[in-house]
Amino acid sequence: MSFPTTRLRRLRSKEILRNMVRETKVSMDDLIMPLFVCPGTNVRNPISSMPGNSQLSVDLLVEECKALVAKGVKSVLLFGIPESKDEHGHVACVADGIVQKAIRAIKAEIKDIIVVADVCNCEYTTHGHCGTIVDGDVHNDLTLETLAKQSVSLAEAGADIIAPSDMMDGRVGRIRQALDENNFYNIPIMAYSAKYASAFYGPFREAAESAPKFGNRSTYQMDTANSNEALREIEQDIEEGADIVMVKPALSYLDVIRRVKDTYNIPIAAYNVSGEFSMVKAAAANGWIDEERIIKEILTSIKRAGADIIITYHAPQMADILRKEQQLKGY
Ligand code: PBG
Repeated sequence: MSFPTTRLRRLRSKEILRNMVRETKVSMDDLIMPLFVCPGTNVRNPISSMPGNSQLSVDLLVEECKALVAKGVKSVLLFGIPESKDEHGHVACVADGIVQKAIRAIKAEIKDIIVVADVCNCEYTTHGHCGTIVDGDVHNDLTLETLAKQSVSLAEAGADIIAPSDMMDGRVGRIRQALDENNFYNIPIMAYSAKYASAFYGPFREAAESAPKFGNRSTYQMDTANSNEALREIEQDIEEGADIVMVKPALSYLDVIRRVKDTYNIPIAAYNVSGEFSMVKAAAANGWIDEERIIKEILTSIKRAGADIIITYHAPQMADILRKEQQLKGY
């Protein structure tokens, strides 16, 4: 049926109607906030390229988590800045590692929070690559061993979800095996399955002090031009036992999120990465955009594309935006 019988504007005429037929709603249940933990006490190092975000020592991190939970942010993703680094990332595999300490401290003080632990070597290696270097490149199968150790150690510290972001082949299977052997068969794996070699990670590498000292990550992260390959990555991770798959970054890859959604029946996470966040902040600081409307539109678009979970530095601000909306509606 077409015009004049069909008039799509009919359902746009009143706000209550528009709310009634809205297809996609972002909820605080969907969001995960990334946080950076560093050594020391009472340390708050603002990350200049990511306004509002800081490297926090464990004590302040716990306070930050309490504030987030009070706002309605229910889950955090932890990245560590260690005291010292080594060639293989062994510092990430020990009980008193920086993230392990942070998880124990959070879990000791906060009951209702999900702590996701990023698993990767790039923050912990002297060269800044995501694994062990042999002949100038990251050695896949040697790296699997440190990733498995790191994962078990993070689970022992109390991590609720293990999230490998290294892009080695076979790491989901290897980590699943290690977790199960250590009786952590109930800990889910959220795999960074389709992770692209993206320029949008720029600000994060300042935040996590994890920029590679030579070369780039193109021998392990995906070519930004590919989406068939993303489906192969996703399929392999599902076969190896991933519980949640991820597409990263989010905004330039909404088509990939949609293809994954249409092809597989598994929860999908999308990582709204640092560069995507910082571009919004920079434009807003210049008065060029309406920041709150842009944040809502961006997060809604990621969900509309098919993501169930969104990892985003906008999470606390989105909580404020949603609360304001509820108040305007009179709840
Ligand atoms: C570690 C890792 C990165 C991000 C998450 N985990 C950076 C990278 O691969 O260099 C990026 C997150 C962001 O940009 O917000 N491998």
